[in-house]
Amino acid sequence: MKVLVIGGGGREHAIVWKLAQSKRVDKIYCCPGNAGIAELAECLDIKPTDFDALLNLVRYEWIDLTIVGPEDPLAAGIADVFRKDGRKIFGPGAMGARLESGRAFSKDFMRRYGIPTAEYRVFSSYIHAEDYVRLKGAPIVVKADGLAAGKGVYVAKTVDEACEALRLIMKERVFGEAGDRVVVEECVQGEEASFMAFTDGTTIIPMVSSQDHKRVFDGDLGPNTGGMGAYSPAPVLPEEMERTVMEKVMRPFLRGVQAERMDFRGVIYAGLMIKDKKPMVLEFNCRFGDPETQAVLARLDSDFFEIALAVSEGKLAQASVAWKPEASVCVVAASGGYPGSYGKGKVIKGLNAVKRMKDVVVFHAGTGFDGESTVTAGGRVLGVTATGADVPAAKARAYEAIAKISFEGMHYRKDIADRAIGRSAC
Ligand code: GLY
Repeated sequence: MKVLVIGGGGREHAIVWKLAQSKRVDKIYCCPGNAGIAELAECLDIKPTDFDALLNLVRYEWIDLTIVGPEDPLAAGIADVFRKDGRKIFGPGAMGARLESGRAFSKDFMRRYGIPTAEYRVFSSYIHAEDYVRLKGAPIVVKADGLAAGKGVYVAKTVDEACEALRLIMKERVFGEAGDRVVVEECVQGEEASFMAFTDGTTIIPMVSSQDHKRVFDGDLGPNTGGMGAYSPAPVLPEEMERTVMEKVMRPFLRGVQAERMDFRGVIYAGLMIKDKKPMVLEFNCRFGDPETQAVLARLDSDFFEIALAVSEGKLAQASVAWKPEASVCVVAASGGYPGSYGKGKVIKGLNAVKRMKDVVVFHAGTGFDGESTVTAGGRVLGVTATGADVPAAKARAYEAIAKISFEGMHYRKDIADRAIGRSAC
């Protein structure tokens, strides 16, 4: 079988790595891929939103299954285009993807199906939004309605901060038309966790729990990033809580998908806030999380290709989804300056030394090849991922590995998974 993976980050490297372990996969293509993915797949420089070129590739190379990593092509309807052409694709259609690409749509969906979420209002007028913020007071959360490359969410500690967020989104239009509307919502406290599940629109099967680290510096300080590391399992989501999330969030989500006739075949990822053993949905994403996927797929015991194919065919109920008991930890190595501006083309040293380590895999994110060496090509560069008997063991191994890697300006958090270790050790 031939598989195309769309995307070029650490998440896609983890997907390709897992696919490459399947006996049923003969060849993997990736668009655009990165230097690490190129060791396992044929990488082609086609943009994830160039549907014509991607579809032509699938037609002429006789590709059996396409798996979509990032949200942009899903929001733009790649799954609808491919299915109309009779192609198998892992990812929801544009209507399902709106649960991520339209925050107001998503919140209204949650309300319609009784999914617990923070109280909110939607505004298309700056004045009305500001009046509401002043009425409600702070802390308060201001979100741009549309996709904003992982940005667009402001957790305002003061009314002035909230008004500044409104000004940036609605007046300065820093996120373009994604800021035509804003969602202003109550700031809920608790502990965040990521809950991802496979679904084909009829069956829903949870993945193991995980938690990412969004802030750039240790102690959850500094600006938000795409994610500086992740670990699995997350102690805030023990089995009993998983059952609660399935009952209160995932099954109502599936009822909504069916009632609204969404073609949802892929991953539903709920960003949760858990307080007093009660989950609340902060946001839905319609794709695998990054870097959660690196930690989660490291624990998948089953054949990922079989699962993805079953999802795309609406036969998930027939697939086997089993997990390894080990824990995993992924530590992201980022470019100097990230999440602000950063340079590229820095030579990465130490990758071969880590390749020889057992229970460790380095997922490439922003990397390229300059003809001689593997070099940096993005903000998040590598996701050094290790498994171990429990979270402390996986963490120790991941940090042992990352210590062997270096590039100019490299930085990484030293406290990935400490939250888990502080609470209970897996
Ligand atoms: N780790 C956060 C995300 O994938 O959106």
